[in-house]
Order: sequence, then structure tokens, then C-alpha cells
Amino acid sequence: MIKQIGITHAIFQAPMAGVTTPEFVAECADAGIVGAIGAGYLNGEETRKFICDVKKLTKAPFMVNLFVPEEIEWHEETKKKANTDLHAIRQSLGITEPEFQRTENEFEQQIDVILEESIAICSFAFGLPKKEIVERLKREDVFLIGTATTPEEARLVEEIGMDAVVVQGSEAGGHRGSFYGKLAYIPLNQLVKEVRETVQIPIIAAGGIANKKMIHELTELGAEAVQIGTALLVAEESGAHPLHKREVLQAAKGDTVCTNTFSGKMARGLKNEFIKRMENACIAPYPFQNTYTKDIRKASADQGTSDYMSLWAGENAYLSESGKVKAIIERFL
Ligand SMILES: Cc1cc2nc3c(=O)[nH]c(=O)nc-3n(C[C@H](O)[C@H](O)[C@H](O)COP(=O)(O)O)c2cc1C
Repeated sequence: MIKQIGITHAIFQAPMAGVTTPEFVAECADAGIVGAIGAGYLNGEETRKFICDVKKLTKAPFMVNLFVPEEIEWHEETKKKANTDLHAIRQSLGITEPEFQRTENEFEQQIDVILEESIAICSFAFGLPKKEIVERLKREDVFLIGTATTPEEARLVEEIGMDAVVVQGSEAGGHRGSFYGKLAYIPLNQLVKEVRETVQIPIIAAGGIANKKMIHELTELGAEAVQIGTALLVAEESGAHPLHKREVLQAAKGDTVCTNTFSGKMARGLKNEFIKRMENACIAPYPFQNTYTKDIRKASADQGTSDYMSLWAGENAYLSESGKVKAIIERFL
């Protein structure tokens, strides 16, 4: 796989929607790992602009990561109640409820952009694209990567024709990539072992990877590469908010938790006031909750407090160290 995609080191920078910037992706790519655009929240044209900006900065191959749209069951009453339950927090921040704009999912347009821009590697989170889309991308030789949190999901990733699978352990920062069956939290080492027995395609291990020793162990268990998020999120070139970086760098062991309060989908991040205050609140399904909390997260950051921001981070955030992208990557080689 490493030879096929043309990288020096068997490491992927985790695609982090909202955190990755063209400079950050290009720095990672130039350091010999796979740089990755987290395009999950972008529309088609924004995705194209991001890709063009990265191309201006590097000649190295890079990846684009997309969120597969999901069928959601939702009730108007739940949505209303979930939004009302956020009013007290809006009051604390001195903001009023914004007008919510309907955002169309532009997944199909993003697929067109991937092909038009001759992207070499494309990964997916939150599910699998339709078979026709997989076949269309494969005809153009795009290297395809699915995300799995269980052996069953990994099997589905392989069955649909993907070239590799990101195996996301329970330690991972950010959203769970789960899409099939009951939500599972399997520690990375165990998951890699189980997935190795289930599929033939290369495994990219993700979740809590904080040093060389962990990479070595995962390789021994059958992973062909690793994907690193939190350790790179704190890099000087990353687009994470300075408060987010500061909280990750100051985190202690046990400071992260899985919560659906920010987006309606389970994700791991640092515990804060928002999560505490939302303990008994009604939560709308993803992506509605994500839309409802957007103004709150932004106001919190603008007001210089991390209390109401989503501070996505993996379980080993406490092992993160500051530095430039290249220096951080160097520690893993
Ligand atoms: C801030 C943040 C944003 C993330 N956004 C995405 C994303 O857009 N797409 C995706 O597939 N995974 C995303 N992830 C999950 C990562 O791909 C990966 O599973 C995780 O970072 C690995 O755990 P670690 O953070 O402990 O290294 C995100 C993770 C973080 C920390």
C-alpha cells in the first residue's frame, strides 16, 4: 500500500474536519506522510478550492476525506426540544438563537470534484458510499479507504471494494466512524487483531497513537500503517483554535469522554462545562444537533473561553507535545 500511494512513511495525518488547513496538509505531505483534507463539512466548491490550495503548496500526494450522508430518523418535537435545551447556554454567552439555514449535503458534488481534480486517495467516514460511486472512483484508479470501528464494519468496507480500512479504536479523538450495528468501543490493539483475522485489505490503525512504541506494537499485530490525529492537532501549523491546542497540551490522563451533546453523534473530546451542563438535555440526531450548537461553539471561541467549545481529542491527549509538524512527525519515525 505504501509503495502504491507513493509515500515515504507508513503514517497518515488524520483528516480533521475544521482543523486541517492547506498549509497543514501540505506540511504533512512534504514530511513524507499522507496529508489529508478533512472535507466533511465543505460543499463541492469549497472542497475544490481547498484541493487547489494544497496543490499550490506541495507536489506530494494527499488524501481527501468525506462524510457519507446518512438516512436519519428524526422527529420535529425532538429537534425543537433539543434546540430549546440550548437556550440557557446561549444566555450564559449573551447570544440569541440564530436563524438556522438548511444546508444541502453535497456529497455527490464532492465526488465529482475528487474525479475532476484527479485526487489519488479518498477516505470515507460515517458509512459507505453507494456501490456505483465506488465503481466510478475505482475506474479512475482512486485509492479508496473506508473507516471501521468493528470487524463487521471492516468486512463491509472490504466487500464493497475499498482498497484499505482505517480501523478506529475506542481511544480515538473526534467522531466515531461507526455505521453498522450497535455502537462499539473496542480498544485499538484488540480491534486490529480482530480485523486482521477478518479482512485481507491493508489496515490503517487509528486511536490514541502517541509514540513509536505504539506504532511498532500495531505493526506487529498486522497494521500496515497508522493514522494520527491528536498528536498532530497541536502542531503550530494546524488550524485548530489556539484554545483547543492549549487544552490538549494541558490535558491530564482521563480528561477525555465520549459525548453526543455537540453534534448528535458520539465523539471523544476533553470534558468541559458544555458537556456537564448538557447532562440531562434532549439531543437531536446528527447533523441537527451540530447545526444547533454551531453558534455556541463559535461564541465560546470568540469570547476566549473553551467552556463551550468542542475540544475533540483522543484518550492519549495528555501525551501530546507542542512543536512544528515536521518535529512532531520526526518523533514517530
Ligand atoms: C479534531 C478531530 C477531528 C476529526 N475529524 C475527522 C474527520 O473529519 N474525518 C475522519 O475520518 N476522522 C476524523 N477524526 C478522527 C481521526 O480520523 C482519527 O480516528 C483519530 O484522530 C485518531 O485518534 P487520535 O486523535 O487519538 O490520534 C477527527 C479527530 C479529531 C481529533
